[in-house]
Amino acid sequence: MNILLLGSGGRESALAWKIAESPLLTKLYIAPGNGGTSRYGTNVALSPLDFQAIERFVNDNKIDMIVVGNEDPLVAGIYDWFEDKPVKVCGPSKAGAALEGSKDFAKRFMLANGIPTARYRSFTAETLKEGKEFLATLKAPYVLKADGLAAGKGVLIIDSLDEACTALEEMLGGMFGKSSATVVIEEFLSGIECSVFVLTDGAGGYRILPVAKDYKRIGEGDTGLNTGGMGAVSPVVFADDEFMKKVESRIIRPTIDGLAKEGITYRGFIFLGLINVGGEPMVIEYNVRMGDPETEAVMLRVDSDLLQLMDAAASGNLGDLELRHSPLTAVTVMMVSGGYPGSYPKGKKITGIEDVTESIPFHAGTAVDSEGNLVTSGGRVISVSSTGTDVADALAKSYRSIDKIGFEGKYSRTDIGRDLMALAERK
Ligand code: AMP
Ligand code: GLY
Repeated sequence: MNILLLGSGGRESALAWKIAESPLLTKLYIAPGNGGTSRYGTNVALSPLDFQAIERFVNDNKIDMIVVGNEDPLVAGIYDWFEDKPVKVCGPSKAGAALEGSKDFAKRFMLANGIPTARYRSFTAETLKEGKEFLATLKAPYVLKADGLAAGKGVLIIDSLDEACTALEEMLGGMFGKSSATVVIEEFLSGIECSVFVLTDGAGGYRILPVAKDYKRIGEGDTGLNTGGMGAVSPVVFADDEFMKKVESRIIRPTIDGLAKEGITYRGFIFLGLINVGGEPMVIEYNVRMGDPETEAVMLRVDSDLLQLMDAAASGNLGDLELRHSPLTAVTVMMVSGGYPGSYPKGKKITGIEDVTESIPFHAGTAVDSEGNLVTSGGRVISVSSTGTDVADALAKSYRSIDKIGFEGKYSRTDIGRDLMALAERK
């Protein structure tokens, strides 16, 4: 099979690594890829949003399946673009991608299908007054979400009612452009979060991937600004059999059934952002792709041929294919550029990667410069993934590897997984 993988982050590095080990693979292309993906295939200078150019490439290179790493092409309708053409797409149709592309749609979908989620209402500029009145009926903190995609920045959690009212006005006034023309206001849920990934074939078949927890804030103890993700751990100690049974019966099955009932084509990954509220799983958000950096841990725990599974899902029939989970623990710790998630320099030389033996350094924001040096090219630079017998064992490997990798201004959190280790001790 010839595969075109779209994206350029750590997630795509991990997907490429996993796809490359499949005996079914003939050629793997990554568009646009990064400074490390060329180890697994051929980088192609194509924009994941330029469907015309992608179509030409697909025809010229006899691509059998497009695997879409990030949400933008899905929300823009890449599945639909190729629907009647001789190439499969692993991912949802545009209608399905609205689960991530519109928080208002996602909330209505959950309500219609009895899926547990926070109480909410949606507002537009015309209903600003009602929005402020609704805020006054809720308890602090207040959760305000831009309806559309906002590069992970569209959720505001605010302690004071006055400030929440001001924020609502600003959001509806264009704080996130068109994405916040509609704002979802919802009840704050208190609990610990985890990420559940499901691969579905759109015909009732699905497989659950290993569960992971990510660490979103820049600072130790989950403080400071939100980032794309600073690390991840899999498995998650509280997502035990009892919890996952609830997730499957109350969330996964109703999601799969709801998509079918609404006639939505969905052949790809569903990412459930869940929160454990006193032992009860509730949905914080849907995404329509794998998580980053969760994928950089999860792929190390998938013992089956993921390419075969994705191909079966994209063909509409997972049949009896198994998705086996490794009993090992996997972690990933992100090395970021100093200054991230604010402004940061690029083009810093990266050294020592070749000395890493205990971990897989998945490239994220890296590039090869005109002199052939590996350099930084983004905020999240390298996601250092390891497996071990438990969280402490896997983490020790990632941190030893991080010590070997150098670039000016490098930073990573030293407390990834610490909360889960504390929970495991109490169990
Ligand atoms: P994201 O949508 O990934 O930018 O991040 C939203 C984050 O905001 C989630 O991961 C939660 O940590 C938090 N969040 C969103 N909705 C709620 C809610 N209803 N209650 C509590 N926290 C929330
Ligand atoms: N790690 C969260 C995300 O990928 O959206």
